[in-house]
Amino acid sequence: MHLSPALEKRYTREQHSAREAQRLAEFIAWGPMIFQVSRLMLKFGILELLRDSDEGLTRAEIVQQTQLSDYAAKILLEGSLCIGTVLVNTETERYTLSKTGWFLLTDPATRVNVDFNHDVNYEGLFHLEEALREGRPAGLEHFGAWPTVYEGLSSLPEQVQKSWFGFDHFYSDSAFPSALKIVFGYRPMTLLDVGGNTGKWAMQCVGHDPDVEVTIVDLPQQLAMMRRQTQGKPGAERISGYGMNLLDPSADFPTDRHYDIIWMSQFLDCFSMEEITSILSRAARIMDDDSRLCIMETLWDRQKYEPAALCLTMTSVYFTDIANGNSKMYNTEDMTACVEAAGLRVETIHDGVGEQGHSIMVCRR
Ligand SMILES: C[S@@+](CC[C@H](N)C(=O)[O-])C[C@H]1O[C@@H](n2cnc3c(N)ncnc32)[C@H](O)[C@@H]1O
Repeated sequence: MHLSPALEKRYTREQHSAREAQRLAEFIAWGPMIFQVSRLMLKFGILELLRDSDEGLTRAEIVQQTQLSDYAAKILLEGSLCIGTVLVNTETERYTLSKTGWFLLTDPATRVNVDFNHDVNYEGLFHLEEALREGRPAGLEHFGAWPTVYEGLSSLPEQVQKSWFGFDHFYSDSAFPSALKIVFGYRPMTLLDVGGNTGKWAMQCVGHDPDVEVTIVDLPQQLAMMRRQTQGKPGAERISGYGMNLLDPSADFPTDRHYDIIWMSQFLDCFSMEEITSILSRAARIMDDDSRLCIMETLWDRQKYEPAALCLTMTSVYFTDIANGNSKMYNTEDMTACVEAAGLRVETIHDGVGEQGHSIMVCRR
């Protein structure tokens, strides 16, 4: 198994003393309470108040500034002390923010993950067991009767959509500036953006290169959303849409022109390995020796920082329970196996694209 040096260090040998291990086990057992208490410390602005106070705040001051009851403040503050997001001075009885509290409050990735987990995943996770046993997104049912989250995306409740897109965009957006340099280093005139979503990458491409023409392939309902979002913006006239369901094995990629680059960003993780192989085989059919397939993914085994691998393997659980029941965040070995099964080869892998641990796998026929 391939693991980056940081992961090798952490995942191949025991890390904790017995006491730490016991605490971690309790952390897991009380995970739902720990999550909700911490989320509400954010939502009620308590962590922010603590950060902005010079000497910390007493519980009475927190009650006064948040309008919560003394009971509610006690529940949250006592819980947060044990969770480790706040500290207390026993003499002055003033609470301050701990290092963990500071990260929870200020790390943008953590905030996006908290919203995603509460709004998109939390309720549905009760059904993870069925999802794992039956290979279907059992946790999606309380939102609607779609086979996968993608068919339902445009009709999810507003707050759920906000957190879903917040999560999706946060990760890929931060990689786009570096990805543009890599992709446009191949001087494409035409680019097929597979799973182009709301057109954010396509807009960046037409902004970056005055001639490039981009075709977005996505589900028809998603293309309608993309058209609304790109309409009237500079360069949007060089973006076109091609609606298709790639899960249909007979659905072929557009053959109206030669595509220099086929781009798949955070897209293949929406599918099982069998489905990926089918999609890539169809992509290979419209490629010639000059075409390149660029797959941008956060491959969990290549992460430079361990918390990133944690986020990715936990994101896999969202795919199991909510998204589709059969996909995940892949590692290099699995993705390469799909590429090769589709008759392609990995030419090179660019790591560390952007700040959130993306890699671009460049593949050729
Ligand atoms: C996770 S989003 C990735 C969006 C974008 N490429 C990015 O990097 O942020 C996956 C996209 O794949 C599309 N998609 C999922 N299943 C699909 C299918 N069966 N056929 C076509 N597109 C699909 C979704 O609608 C969504 O826009």
